[in-house]
Amino acid sequence: MANETILIIDFGSQYNQLIARKVRELEVYCEIVLPTISIEYINKKTVKGIILSGGPSSVYDKKAPICDGRMFSLGIPVLGICYGMQLMAKSLGGMVERSPSREYGRAILTVTDHKLLFKSIPKKSTIWMSHGDKVKYMPSGFKRIGRSKNTSIAAFANLDKKLFGVQFHPEVAHTQFGKGIIKNFVKDICGTRSDWSMKSFVKEAIADIRKLTRDDKVMLGLSGGVDSSVAAVLIKKAIGHRLVCIFVDNGLLRKNEARLVRDLFQKHFKINLRCIDASKEFIKALKTVVDPEKKRRIIGKTFIRVFEGEAKKIRDVKFLAQGTLYPDLIESRSTFGGPSATIKTHHNVGGLPKKMQLNLIEPLKYLFKDEVRKVGKEIGMPAEILGRHPFPGPGLAVRIIGDVTQERCDILREVDDRLISTLRKEGLYDKIWQAFAILLPVKSVGVMGDKRTYESVVAIRAVTSLDGMTADWARIPYAALAKISNRIINEVRGVNRVVYDISSKPPSTIEWE
Ligand code: XMP
Repeated sequence: MANETILIIDFGSQYNQLIARKVRELEVYCEIVLPTISIEYINKKTVKGIILSGGPSSVYDKKAPICDGRMFSLGIPVLGICYGMQLMAKSLGGMVERSPSREYGRAILTVTDHKLLFKSIPKKSTIWMSHGDKVKYMPSGFKRIGRSKNTSIAAFANLDKKLFGVQFHPEVAHTQFGKGIIKNFVKDICGTRSDWSMKSFVKEAIADIRKLTRDDKVMLGLSGGVDSSVAAVLIKKAIGHRLVCIFVDNGLLRKNEARLVRDLFQKHFKINLRCIDASKEFIKALKTVVDPEKKRRIIGKTFIRVFEGEAKKIRDVKFLAQGTLYPDLIESRSTFGGPSATIKTHHNVGGLPKKMQLNLIEPLKYLFKDEVRKVGKEIGMPAEILGRHPFPGPGLAVRIIGDVTQERCDILREVDDRLISTLRKEGLYDKIWQAFAILLPVKSVGVMGDKRTYESVVAIRAVTSLDGMTADWARIPYAALAKISNRIINEVRGVNRVVYDISSKPPSTIEWE
C-alpha cells in the first residue's frame, strides 16, 4: 500500500479493531501488526504514526509482549494506550506500579495540558478505564497532561518527541471525546492527509491484481454472499475472462439462490461462471447426521471435493481468490495466550488453497465489512446484494435441527422465503443484522379447517448486531410478527406453529447449531 499509514501494534486488546475503525473513519489507512514487527517495516516513509494498543498483560509478566524500543527515537509520533502507555514508560526509563486490583469502568479525566493530544478537549470529561497497573514515575522529558481520581498520571506526553500515553481507552464509545483525541493524534500530530478512500482502493486493487496475475487464470468460489461477490466483481474488472468463478449449489441454500447468482453474475456482470448442482451429493452425505460439528465437517469436505473436481477441468489456473476480510485475518492470527475456545468451526473454503497448491489472492483482506460494501457500491453492485444478511457456509443444514433431508430442506426454504419477503415488505430487513428460520425436530397439534393437524414447529430468529460477536434479539413489531406467522402457517405445508426466539448472544449464539 502506498497510502500514508498508521501502524497499530497489537498487544492483545479486545478493542484493537475499534482503534482501526476509528482511524479508517478519518480516511487514513492503518494496519494492525504484531509486536514482533521489524524496525525496518516501521521506519518506512509511508508510516506517519504508531499506536500501541492495550492488552491483558502486565509489563512485569515474564512473557509480557514487547516491541523494538528503537521505535521511540525514529521521530515518528507514538500514542500508547493502557498497556501501550505502560510499556512506553518502562522502555524509556519510567516506572510502572503493580496494582493488585483493577480499575474498571467510567472515570472523569481532568486535562492538565491542552496542547496537541488534548487540543479542544474540555477540562473535564468521561473516560473508560480498564487496567490494573499504572504509571508511577514518568520517563525524563515527559510531563503529565491528564489525571483522574484514582490515577494520578492518566495521560502523559513528551511534547518535543511527540510521544503520548493515555491510561484510558479513547477508542471505546464510553470515552466522551475519544474520537477527538484520536483525531488530534492521527490528523494533527501525525499530519496525515486522509488519502484512504474506497475510490483509491479500487484503483490500486485493480492495478495490483493485474500486476500479480500477469496472463494467468484466477479461480474463485462464489457463494453469493457479500464478500465473495465483491471480490468476484473487483477481480473481473481487473482481468476480465481470466477469472473463472465456481458456484456450488449444495442444496442447502435459500430459495432461488442459484438463479439469482446466475442472473447477476453471468448475465449482468458477464462473469465466466460455472454453476454445479451438487445438492444430491450433499444431502446424501448428511444422511442421519445430527451433530452440528459433524454436519459442518461433512459439508466442508464435500465442498472441497466438488470444487476440486470442477477446478481440475479448468486448465492453467495459477491463483485462487478468496473474499477474506480484515477481521478474519486478525482473528486467525491469535496474538497471545493461544486460540480461544472453539464454539463453532466456521467453515468456509479454508482447506482449499493448501490442497490445491495455488497462490492466494485476497483483495479484500485489509478491509472491514462496511468498507467492502462501499467498494461494492463503487464498482456498481446493486444495493440488495450489498445489504444482504450474512448466511453461514453450511447453510440450512445448521438451521435444521436433527436430520437434514430433502423434504425438510424444502420446507425450511419456503418458510425462510416467507420470512424474508415479509421483512422486506414491512421495511424491516435493513434494520436487522440477520434473520432466519429454524426447523425444529418437534411436532405439535393444530387445527385447520376443522381438521386436526400434527406438523412441524419453526422458530424465527432475528437479531440486531454490529459485528455478529454480540447480538440482541430484534424487537420486531407484533403486527409484523403476526404477518410472518400467518404467512408461514397458511402458505407452507408441513408447518402449523411458529415461535419467536428471544435470546441474546451471549449466552446464546446467533445460529442454533
Ligand atoms: P454464531 O452462531 O456463532 O454466529 O453466533 C455468528 C455469525 O457467524 C455465522 N456462522 C457461520 N458462518 N460458517 C459461516 O460461514 C459457519 O459454520 C457459521 N456458523 C455461524 C452466523 O450466521 C452469524 O452471522
